Amino acid sequence: MDQPSGKTTSATPAFLRALSGEKLAVPPVWLMRQAGRYLPEYREVRAKAGSFLSLCYNPELAAEVTLQPIRRFGFDAAILFSDILVVPQALGQKLWFAEGEGPRLEPVADAARLAEIDRGAGAGKLDPILETVGRVRASLGKETGFIGFCGAPWTVGTYMVAGRGTPDQGPARALIAQDPVLFQAIIDRIVASSIDYLNAQITAGVDAVQIFDSWAGALGPEDFRRWCIEPTRRIVEGVRAVHPQARIIGFPRGAGELIPEYIRGTGVDAVSLESEIDRDFAREAIQSLVPVQGHLDPLILRAGGDDLESEISAVKAAFGSGPFVFNLGHGILPDTPIAHVERLLKAVRG
Ligand code: CP3
Repeated sequence: MDQPSGKTTSATPAFLRALSGEKLAVPPVWLMRQAGRYLPEYREVRAKAGSFLSLCYNPELAAEVTLQPIRRFGFDAAILFSDILVVPQALGQKLWFAEGEGPRLEPVADAARLAEIDRGAGAGKLDPILETVGRVRASLGKETGFIGFCGAPWTVGTYMVAGRGTPDQGPARALIAQDPVLFQAIIDRIVASSIDYLNAQITAGVDAVQIFDSWAGALGPEDFRRWCIEPTRRIVEGVRAVHPQARIIGFPRGAGELIPEYIRGTGVDAVSLESEIDRDFAREAIQSLVPVQGHLDPLILRAGGDDLESEISAVKAAFGSGPFVFNLGHGILPDTPIAHVERLLKAVRG
């Protein structure tokens, strides 16, 4: 597989060294959703911003919440504070967050709606988020990696079609069955804007990007190839064409035994692993191909206690002999005690 040619030195952040295939005695660590509601300082800024989306589009406050977990815990990487759904919003789809209920969009159900959304596509709508990237870059220490992200086309597409999160991604899967040409047009639109968006994030200062495919597990092998691997491959190609040195992490959550095929097919540099995946399989069939990130269960972090210590040891034992970034298998839960995050860092770093 082609690997980017970016060279690393001992001055390179540990996070990027691990993504470049180095095995480190102490794995770098960050947590998905590390900027979030479990932190009182986040809740304070979030209240000041008024809403989640106003926070995403306020560069000063978004940079502040991106940096909060770095200051408090000294994680090895910061992740841009934003959301995967700002891409459909920039395309002209209405987006709002119903308090306590998650995202809502005006669904795209036919070609006319897609054409309207296309016409709504405007350069510059994501500029405030790129300004956040620049601000974070300017304040981040050299030892800390900086991660940008987008949603994978399949996952973003499920929200665009249904207008909300769905337990089984039924509306998008029904559209695939009824009108694959329309669904392909939606995917193509997301691919094009995601390439531009990730390239702009890298230009503005992130070192690595993560492509979140949270609903990859909902598709059978053939649909997974067409709707997850192929669009992600195009994004990887489009980013590499402009930024060959950028590291790209894929997160095909729930794809299980199809992950080796995803790695070969997309060309990502590393993959994030969900907690449900078998550790022996992940080490032998996945970490033998690329560096891995994960895969502590967020429920175990929230519960704490002896189980937390023993699970951290088990995750380290499973993946510590190869290139590895310690993380959760999914986002940190809002009611996770801060003391448990502190214990995690002690246990990971020894
Ligand atoms: O990891 C980070 O700290 C970076 C920021 C980030 C957010 N969302 C902030 C957020 C990232 C990388 C995401 C990705 C995202 N967003 C995904 C893919 C990863 C995953 O969780 O599966 C998805 C599917 C979304 C869409 C989304 N955004 C949902 C379903 C929700 C509601 C669920 C929830 O946790 O409230 C959001 C809201 C959201 N995105 C919040 C945050 C901090 C909570 C908003 C708040 O503060 O009220």
